[in-house]
Amino acid sequence: MKIPVLFIANDHAAVDLKRALASFAAEAELAAEIRDFGVGHGARADYPDQAHALTQAVLKEPGSMGVLLCGTGLGMSMAANRRKGIRAAVCVNEYMARMAREHNDANVLCMGARVTGDELAKAILRAFLTTPFEGGRHEGRVRKIDAPLGESR
Ligand code: RB5
Repeated sequence: MKIPVLFIANDHAAVDLKRALASFAAEAELAAEIRDFGVGHGARADYPDQAHALTQAVLKEPGSMGVLLCGTGLGMSMAANRRKGIRAAVCVNEYMARMAREHNDANVLCMGARVTGDELAKAILRAFLTTPFEGGRHEGRVRKIDAPLGESR
């Protein structure tokens, strides 16, 4: 089932990748709507700013997903995962993207423009957006991610 909204954001290291992925997602009709929270050429950005804005939007819009792009995907994922309810996964291949959805119910995909080429990034994005959460034995594990420490042991 097509997701209602795909939020996408980037810092200065990933402007071209953001554009390539936003066009790809629109052409492939991977989401009903795509909203861009990123910066364009000429701007410098601090990745936590984009990560915090995008994750807030994802949590407000039921069923939506996010894509965060920086040089490596690492800073974006660190910032995104500070927000309760966000499960951001750095993926460098399609297998990781499928597992992030099937097992971890990830709602944000992070990639690095200095790590992953455009064509692979498109394949990763497609895998991420079209793979459902498996549920079952994974439900309780995913719930424990946000459980207060101490209760999860
Ligand atoms: C910016 O140079 C770079 O540090 C940033 O894009 C990102 O890779 C951080 O994790």
